[in-house]
Amino acid sequence: MVYLRPSRVVLLGLSLSASSVLGGSIQKNDLSLPADAQTNRDRVKNIFTTSYNAYKDHAFGHDDYTPISKSFTDSRNGWGASIIDAMSTMWVMDLTDDLNEAIDFASKIDFSKSNTQDNVSVFESTIRYIGGLLSTYELTGKKNQALVDKAKQLADKLSQAWVGNSDIPYGHIDFTTNSPARDSSNIAEAGTLTMEWWALSKYTNDQKYTQLAEKSARQPVIDISCMLTGLPGQGIDPSTGNPVGGYVTWGGGSDSYFEYLIKYPRLTNTDDDFWTDMWSTAVDSSIKTLLSVSDVGNHLYLADYDSSRRIRHVGSHLACFYGGNWIMGGKLTNNETIVNYGLELVEGCWNTYSSTATGIGPESFAWKSSGPDGDYTGGSTPSAAQEAFYAQHGFYPTSSFYILRPEVLESNFYAWRATGDTKYLDRAAQAISSFEKYLKVDEGFAGLTNVDDNSANATKVDDMESFWFAEVLKYLYLTFDDPSHVSLDEYVFNTEAHPFQAPSAKEKYGTGVTPSSAPQQPEQSSTPTVSDVGPAATTSPMPSSLGLGGLGIRDAVKLFRKDLW
Ligand SMILES: *[C@@H]1O[C@H](CO)[C@@H](O)[C@H](O)[C@H]1NC(C)=O
Ligand SMILES: *[C@@H]1O[C@H](CO)[C@@H](O)[C@H](O)[C@H]1NC(C)=O
Ligand SMILES: *[C@@H]1O[C@H](CO)[C@@H](O)[C@H](O)[C@H]1NC(C)=O
Repeated sequence: MVYLRPSRVVLLGLSLSASSVLGGSIQKNDLSLPADAQTNRDRVKNIFTTSYNAYKDHAFGHDDYTPISKSFTDSRNGWGASIIDAMSTMWVMDLTDDLNEAIDFASKIDFSKSNTQDNVSVFESTIRYIGGLLSTYELTGKKNQALVDKAKQLADKLSQAWVGNSDIPYGHIDFTTNSPARDSSNIAEAGTLTMEWWALSKYTNDQKYTQLAEKSARQPVIDISCMLTGLPGQGIDPSTGNPVGGYVTWGGGSDSYFEYLIKYPRLTNTDDDFWTDMWSTAVDSSIKTLLSVSDVGNHLYLADYDSSRRIRHVGSHLACFYGGNWIMGGKLTNNETIVNYGLELVEGCWNTYSSTATGIGPESFAWKSSGPDGDYTGGSTPSAAQEAFYAQHGFYPTSSFYILRPEVLESNFYAWRATGDTKYLDRAAQAISSFEKYLKVDEGFAGLTNVDDNSANATKVDDMESFWFAEVLKYLYLTFDDPSHVSLDEYVFNTEAHPFQAPSAKEKYGTGVTPSSAPQQPEQSSTPTVSDVGPAATTSPMPSSLGLGGLGIRDAVKLFRKDLW
């Protein structure tokens, strides 16, 4: 397989590769589970009940259980995040008694005030609380009206984060004064509300929630100073909607913006091609500029692109959702090229698991890739130990901890359901063994401070995040479950892994027209390239071919977008 190297040439041009696309199914037909699937499913269920019983004994009603100190923390405003996040997994695992208890608890939460001194995150509250409540409402037959009422109570408070004329909510709200608490945001926070707020509109018959979420998700735009078509930078100023900084990544702060660009149109079957076209454009641009192959081992990863226009060979556990996301979107848009890249990205991320002493991957990592950008990571020079690790494994950890994140196993689940290749089941089984061996503590499961330390005295992280219940254990369990149970062709998972029922797939997602970042008319020497503009530039002229000279960046971007879609 030949991979495209990150291009030095970053151009703004149009390539109209029109083709008709038919919505394909995501899952392979006739998937069949091997005989030991049931055993592995039971092992995951056992990890779940062990974890949840420890939470109930020491932390019930609080956000997180702390498994070393056998106490609790309230990092999500003290509304019981673990309970709400666990509910849809309890439904998946048929844990009826726990689920009924949780629904009863959820029906009584008072979302009008924070139970802690902290301000309330619009993003976190949406994906965990609103997502968990509404998914459980659907899964349990739409009879527990209190779950909708509670989601609405919370969303009504959060709605006050949209201030003035801005389309973007502030990241946090002070629930005492109902005023925004922060002056910065990012595209993940702005773009990861659509699924949940659309579902709320559906069950309250009030379109205002959809309108708020949609206008926010439409706002992130290409920062012309960076000009990676379809790849807006991470930072965004909620008071103006303007991009801040222009750092491009599929990792934290940006990740689920890209994720929802394809999940939202799949959930809603909207006729508005904006979402899928934006997703296809982001992927196309990423293939041309961010795909990177490690010199050792030929592992494929997506690099970052910084505001000085340099490719950085850095990756993260969070970003490893991209493999599953590209498989999903590639299938929906009938583009096997994208599916195949997705599968290769799954391999790269799995390499971060299979290479460590515990068989669990690190929080963040880097690699070397020859070519014009060399081994630039934007970070410090690798230590001797990192060099040695790299020489053996084709990446090196830059933060070695594991805090019960799901993304690598999430993408592994998509790869299994899309291909039926049992190597993905073997990998999931290995992860279960690693969890049992290295994360299990006296009561519950804990994170690791160093995934490459498998010694008996290895230190642990004293926190059991609510996404352990919502995501890790759900994706692991479903990997070994009947593939028609919560099929990827019938449900769309929000970024916290709460499943939402989706209609039958449409015939066609997107227009099939992808604006390209590739040079289409090389004879136009007036178009700026990286070397023309210089790495320190923060703004650059619009390509004269678009005739937008003299407009401000913001206006030019708006015009530019309108021209494309
Ligand atoms: C919450 O937001 C307010 C602004 O409304 C700010 O003054 C305060 O410091 C914030 N509190 C915390 C704990 O961040
Ligand atoms: C599939 O996606 C790739 C990457 O964006 C693109 O180059 C190719 O033209 C697409 N193929 C089809 C059939 O649309
Ligand atoms: C932990 O145990 C290993 C042997 O398993 C030993 O080499 C190491 O020195 C120990 N570390 C500490 C901090 O005690």
